[in-house]
Order: sequence, then structure tokens, then C-alpha cells
Amino acid sequence: MKTHEDANTMTQTPPNTYGFFDDAHREYVITRPDTPLPWLNYLGQDEFFGLCTNTAGGYTFWKDAKLRRLTRYRYNNVPYDLGGRYFYVNDGGEVWNPGWKPVKTKNVAYECRHGLGYTRIVGERDGLEVETLFFVPPGENLEVWKVTVRNKSAQRKTPKLFSYQEFCFFDALNDMTNLQRTYSIGEVEVEGSAIYHKTEFRERRNHYTLFACTRPIAGFDTSRDAFVGIHEGLHEPKVPFAGACTNSIAFGWNPIGAHQVDLDLAPGAEESFAFVLAYVEQGDEPKYDAPFVMNKKVGRAIVEKYSAPGAVDAALAALKKYWDDLLGNFQTECPNEHANRMLNTWNQYQCMATFNMSRSASMYETGIGRGMGFRDSNQDLLGFLHMIPSRGKQRILDIAATQLSDGTCFHQYQPLTKKGNAEIGGDFYDDHLWLVLSTCAYIKETGDVTILQEPCGYADKEYASADAQENLLHHLETSIAYTMKKRGPHGLPLIGHADWNDCLNLNCFSTEPNESFQLAGDVKDSKAESVMIAGLFLYAANEMDGLYSFMGKAADANRMRAHHAEMLAVIERETWDGEWYTRAYDAEGRVVGSKSNEEGKIFIESQGWCVLGGAGANNGRAKQAMESVHKHLFTKNGVVLQQPAYSTYNKDLGEVTSYPPGVKENAGIFSHNNTWINLGWCLLGDGERALEYYLSICPSAKQDQIETYRGEPYVYAQMIAGKDAPCFGEAKNNWLTGTAAWTFVTVSQGLLGVKPDFAGLRIDPCIPKAWPGFTATRRFRGNTYQIDVKNPSGVCKGVKSLRLDGKDIDPQAPIPFVADGKTHQVEAVLGA
Ligand code: GLC
Ligand code: GLC
Repeated sequence: MKTHEDANTMTQTPPNTYGFFDDAHREYVITRPDTPLPWLNYLGQDEFFGLCTNTAGGYTFWKDAKLRRLTRYRYNNVPYDLGGRYFYVNDGGEVWNPGWKPVKTKNVAYECRHGLGYTRIVGERDGLEVETLFFVPPGENLEVWKVTVRNKSAQRKTPKLFSYQEFCFFDALNDMTNLQRTYSIGEVEVEGSAIYHKTEFRERRNHYTLFACTRPIAGFDTSRDAFVGIHEGLHEPKVPFAGACTNSIAFGWNPIGAHQVDLDLAPGAEESFAFVLAYVEQGDEPKYDAPFVMNKKVGRAIVEKYSAPGAVDAALAALKKYWDDLLGNFQTECPNEHANRMLNTWNQYQCMATFNMSRSASMYETGIGRGMGFRDSNQDLLGFLHMIPSRGKQRILDIAATQLSDGTCFHQYQPLTKKGNAEIGGDFYDDHLWLVLSTCAYIKETGDVTILQEPCGYADKEYASADAQENLLHHLETSIAYTMKKRGPHGLPLIGHADWNDCLNLNCFSTEPNESFQLAGDVKDSKAESVMIAGLFLYAANEMDGLYSFMGKAADANRMRAHHAEMLAVIERETWDGEWYTRAYDAEGRVVGSKSNEEGKIFIESQGWCVLGGAGANNGRAKQAMESVHKHLFTKNGVVLQQPAYSTYNKDLGEVTSYPPGVKENAGIFSHNNTWINLGWCLLGDGERALEYYLSICPSAKQDQIETYRGEPYVYAQMIAGKDAPCFGEAKNNWLTGTAAWTFVTVSQGLLGVKPDFAGLRIDPCIPKAWPGFTATRRFRGNTYQIDVKNPSGVCKGVKSLRLDGKDIDPQAPIPFVADGKTHQVEAVLGA
């Protein structure tokens, strides 16, 4: 297709066999549909979301993928990724889909462009081009599916187009499991071109799903049996092949939404129209106009709105502006094309997805399991706060409210109810510390310390008040105090069910395959300790010290420094193994992550966090620990989690030993924790290693090995198979990973050194010696900073001089902040 050739000339990276980056349009262009795995995009940015693959697969939900699922999707299907936003074209009896699937007709030209909040898929066959565009307009609870049909042939064409998607009965788990009920309750109504899915509306629900066409239709179907058939598959549905809808009204079984649009196109003619798929809340409107006839006022207004000429294009323009504005908060031009493209566009975009989804809905997370994770969501904030701090603030308060008054936290909560998930409970003893990191990051971004006084009660108390016993600052103090108090025989923090590494389960002792590794075993009287939490604590105490100093509370700052010193002494005394920091002590007091162990001698997490917390800074150990990581754990595809991989299951260590060697927490490359090492190199001033490590897990840099890598080239993967696995270099669990936020932090704040601090923006890059410099634009607290970094003497680190609007300022201190909403020029020169 023409567009693809145009764009191809714009990118420097050689395209992989499946697609290429169109950097100028912020799109990833997929040129053949049979990608190594379905390549996913997300639609939606506020509360309404859709998953959309490169063949239009996926589903839609409002706020909560478990409790408000609007359309159906069957995970782990054969073939992969079946079910979605399908269009069937019947052009003179020949049936095909613009997105190739499900019919997979031969000779359909194909192009998919995943953009920011939208996916555009174009198919062409026999002179008929069908362009489909899926997006969620900002602030709306609906998807727009825009369709443009072009007759590029020399003959008149009268194609029929059929839309298709299957409704979900809102509670996704019940929907897919409780069929004795769901097969009997499905209800719909049809009015004009609008299909209303109203299952359970007669009882307790005050909401429904609307699927409407903005153009007159020739027919519809709402019964899957009628449209697809019973023994047919989505690749051979009855109606599109027969060429006519049956106007079926579903009664029970499986309601769907399908419209038939008959077109008549002269040579060269085209026609555009749209569909809306909306989540509609009835509000105070009466539910019924007459018995069994729902009041459709709210739904009708939506159809009317998007039927108005220009409404769809205006919504798309609003979406583009929305993303331009958001990404404008941070942009850079640096000598590495992967860093540019990922930082400027895709990494920030992924940070939005992880902020919104946590770990709920992707090709690997089925949307019925985990809600928002306490530690995950706190970390996700680190990559999001610079975009929409006000939403970040609300999230911090929501998360804090799931902490208990003793300092422990609900490990997860449901986004719809904001209530802690009792099934998994708490007692993961790293959780509370991440709240310190997210809150401090919010204050560094905004300067707004009033958040500390916000009421956010504890989950085990009756009310929230602005009372000092419950506000956010109280939560932070409770968190610090908890780790100081809950320590084991070596003076290190207790680990509980697990720390950041969910699979290091030192209190599990499970021999029963039906148990959860995290929840088996009793943590109450356990003595198992975590070096990683100790390192994280150092970092958190430093943050609190900085916060109190900023607030002019010297005594509190000193108290935090004393905590830091105390924990640091423990770490240096108890955990140095000769060449690296150990990882833990198990419930029997035996060391984990030491050269004295047979397997699992060295772990990544404790090196990262001890170094970042300031351990080993004055005695050479930080450098040595990092060199050990390089020697034992680094590979061209990233840093493996530990070595040697565990070869047999060990109940004393838990799930970490359950995985086959080389995957997940058993010596897989867990991209998330790679970033901590990367930040460690920045701290130590090694810009070469910092870039090398970054590129080792960077998807944009994997294009020449895409058949091995398999994942989307535009988003980070949670895991890349490690060197012990037969599929070394294969990515899994793409999209929803803490890697997104942490990589953004690592590259924007570590490598490029554009760092929000309490008093203002700090400039402290750590780049490869060969970089002549770079520029960046950073919006910060309403001001805009245009930053120009020069590296005339070829160093990695060290700002020799710093100028603000032409005047010299202290190069070691944050740029003095004066709120004036203006653009400021910052020039930094690196050197000794
Ligand atoms: C998963 C979890 C995260 C955990 C990590 C390491 O990504 O979502 O909470 O820290 O695995 O086990
Ligand atoms: C498993 C996974 C880990 C994930 C956890 C969530 O333990 O290995 O990555 O965090 O499940 O429950």
C-alpha cells in the first residue's frame, strides 16, 4: 500500500519482516498479519478500554476487566487471538476480512497501523479497499469503529459489509463459567441501526451496552447461532457467506451485535460511516418506557452525537491532540534512535497502559485475576506522574487506603470497588515501601506537599479523616516504622510471603500442587529475611530524608538518616558475600544468594537495591557488586535474575525453583529489575554500560532478531527467556510490566539525567563518552525547560557548568524553581 512505502523511507532502522516504525506519525506499521504472535494495542485512556490486536482481535471493558466486560474474548484459543471487532466483506460472493482474520482469505493486501490510542487496519481485495479505524475518544465511554470503503476498480461494486462482535454479560468470570445461567438470560433490543445489549438490566444493573451504526442498515443479527451457526466457526459464519442478515433477536444463548451495510460504489467512489460501541449508564432516567421496552434516551443521544457529520473525525483529532499534549511533557533528541523513539513515544504510551491496567488485561493477563497491585501500581506511577499528576495523586490516595494500620497492605485491590482483595490478603513485606517512592515522586514532580495531609484512612479502620492519625504522611511513617520494627535474627527486614520477587517464598514449604506458592505456609512467626527489602528501605529512607529536608523539618530528616545508617550497617555487616550482596536468609537462617549455595549463588535484586540505596558507596562494594552482575548475569538479551538457575524444586525457596531454568523468576531476564542495575551504572557513572544494558532489553533494538524475540517491537516485555532456556531471547508477557515505568525513569532520569527533585529540576546525565550531547524538552510544574547538554570533553558524567536563561547557576543543585509558566533555556556542559 502506498502509505507504507512513503513511511518506509522515514525510518532509519531496517524494517523487520513484519513491520517497521513510522516515527513521524508515532505509529508502528505491520505489513503482514501473520506476526510471530498477535501484536497488541490498547484503545482508551480514561476509564473505557479496548484490547486490539493487529488482526482486530480483542475485547472491550469499562473500568474493570473483570466486573464490567462488554464484549467477549476467549483466551488461550486456537488459533491464538480469535474474537474481536470483525468486519466481513462480501464482494460479489467472495468473503474476506480487512484484518485477514478470521476468514484468512488469500490475496488480501493488508496493513495495520498501531498508533497512540487507535488502530487502523486496511485490507484490499480485487479493487475494493476497506479501511477500519478503532479508537476511544478522550473522556468518552465508547469505542468508535470508523469504516471507509473505496472502490479502486474500474467497475461499479455493490459490496455488503457485516459488522460482528459478541457481547459479554459484564461479569467476565461468571460469563465464561456459569453457563447454566448465562445461556438463559441474554436479552437485546434493536431500534433502527442500534443494538442494545440489556442482559440483567431488568434486575440489578442500571447499565447496558450499545452497538450502533451511524448509517442506515440493511439488516442485523443479535443471535450468534443465527449469524455464525452452531457447528461453524468465525472463519465460516453463515450470514456473511449467505450475504444477508436474518434480523434475529437473541433470547438467551449468546447475544451478538451484527449489522449489514449494503453499498453501491461507482468506480473511484468511497463511503465512510461509523459504528459506536458504548457503555451506557442509565442514571436517573426511568428504566422502561413500557414493559420490556427499555428507555433508550441516553443511548439514542450517543448515536445521534456520532452520526453528526464531522463528529468522528473531530473525536479522532481530539485524541491526537491529547497524545501530542501529553507526550510534550517530555521529548528528547539524543544520538540513539531507539532511545529517542521509545522515550518520546512508546515508552510513555506503555506507561499510560500500565497505569490504567496495572496487571489486569493483556494477552497474558486475562482480566479476571489480579486487580490493581499495591507494589505494581506504586511503581507504575513513577512513569506516569509527569503526564497527568492529578490522576497520579488520586491513585496514590486510593492505594494508600488499602494499607492496614499496622503497616501491612492488601497486596491487590479491585479498581471498581477500590477495596482490598481479601483472597490474597497482605504480608508481602516490601509493599508499603513502594508507597514512599510513589508519594515522593509525586511531590518531586509537582512540589505539592499538601498531598501529605490528605485523608486516606487505613483499610481496617472505620473512617478516613484529615486527622493526622490517618493522613498520607502518617501512612509513610507507618511504612518506615514497619520495616524498622519487623526484622529478623540478622537485623534484616522480614520477607513475609515474598518481596518484589513474588517467587522467593521462604515461608511456603509447599508440597501440595493445588496450593498457592505465595499463600501456603504461615508467615506469622517466620524469621526469613530479605536483603532486597533492606536495600529498598535505604532508598526509601533517603527519599524521606529529602522530603523532610525540603519541608524544613530537620529533626525528622535526621531521624530518617539515622534509620538509613542503622540499616546500612546491617547490610554491610551481614550481607556482603565477598563479591556481591546476598539475597536473603531463609526460615532456618540459611543464606540465599551466596557463593556457598549450589544454585542461585547471585541474584540481581539485592545488587540493584543495595547500590541504589547507597550501600557499598564508600568501600568499593557497589562497583564490585555491579561488576559481578556483569560477569555472572549479563547477556546480550539482558540481565538474568540469578545464576545458576535452579534445577530442582526446593520447597524452602518456593516458586522461584518451580520454573524451568531460564524462564520467569528462575533465571529468566526479568526486564523490570534490569532497570535497577541500569540505574546503578548511572549512579556509578558508567554511561557505556548504562546504554548497553538499556539496549539489551529494548524491543526497538530487537528487530533483526524478531523471529526469536516474537513480541511487539514497540513495548517492553516483562520477561525475555534467559540463557538457560532453549528459547534464549524470546519475549513473553509484553505490555503490563513494571519495566515500562522503570525504563522511563532509567533513561529519562538516569541516562539523560533530567530528574525532578523536591526543590526543582536537576540535570545530571550519565551518557556514553562518544555522545556529543543531546537536547530535551521537559514541562515541569507549569514551566517548560529546553535543555541542551553538551559533552565537549567526552565524559560520561559530571556537569561542569549549568546556565539558566544565559546565567550561570550551581551545576550540582536543582535548577531554582520559580513558577512563571514560561519557557526557559538550560545549557549544561559536562566535564571534569
Ligand atoms: C510480576 C508481579 C510483580 C512482581 C514481579 C516479580 O511482575 O506483577 O508484582 O514484583 O512479578 O516477581
Ligand atoms: C507468579 C509469577 C510472578 C507473578 C505472580 C503473581 O508467581 O511468576 O511473576 O508476579 O505469579 O501472582
